[in-house]
Amino acid sequence: MKNLLALNWKMNKTPSEAVQWAKELRAALPQTSAELAIMAPAIALQGLSLELEDSPVKLGAQDISAHESGAYTGEISAAMLKDVGAMYAVVGHSERREYHGESSQIVAAKAAAAIAGGLVPIICVGEGLDVREKGEQVAYTLDQLRDSLSQVPVLGADQIVIAYEPVWAIGTGKTATAADVGEMADAIRGALGGLYREYADGVRILYGGSVKSANIAEICSQTNVNGALIGGASLDVSSVVGLASAL
Ligand code: G3P
Repeated sequence: MKNLLALNWKMNKTPSEAVQWAKELRAALPQTSAELAIMAPAIALQGLSLELEDSPVKLGAQDISAHESGAYTGEISAAMLKDVGAMYAVVGHSERREYHGESSQIVAAKAAAAIAGGLVPIICVGEGLDVREKGEQVAYTLDQLRDSLSQVPVLGADQIVIAYEPVWAIGTGKTATAADVGEMADAIRGALGGLYREYADGVRILYGGSVKSANIAEICSQTNVNGALIGGASLDVSSVVGLASAL
């Protein structure tokens, strides 16, 4: 299975900065065995899509509406995102769960809306520090996973991606050990097996949390890890080149 490097820019880069960045990336793009996808601010997607039209780099959004269309001021639908070239949509990022009160039920509805609109949701799960300190991270994360998938009928393994992002490792410089990531990825794969049977083995499971070129290879060498969701290290072209070259 091809590793996915999903670059989560979060609320960084104006549309023109994004296009400039994409031009620089194209010039520097290394040989890599991984698939590269930029999770850009929605407003930057159209420009990126034009700039990257004939490149292997894919695009995604950082969030999506749970609704198809209508009176939902400020929301952006799957159809709108697809129209400007998105292939993926991150749903349930811990920053959305924490700052926007998104429950796993809302996340499940968003994931379902993404699939219905022809996008692949990257569904984020992961425990906070308090849970990790109690040693309850596996049970917590699997509960969150099952709830976040509760409205998601999977008809094929390539219809969803799961991202395990322990909240305490996001933007802190603290990375879970490769063994911790491997253990969680194995548990997630097992839970997917219970839900999706024959499709479970083909679903990509990513790790996110202070990933950089120095640790990505070891993390992605874990049996059930198929790529990474990258925040801080996704903002500079040189750092992305380093990440892609490491795989
Ligand atoms: O979605 C990616 C993310 O939350 C991890 O951020 O900055 O720790 O790589 P960072």
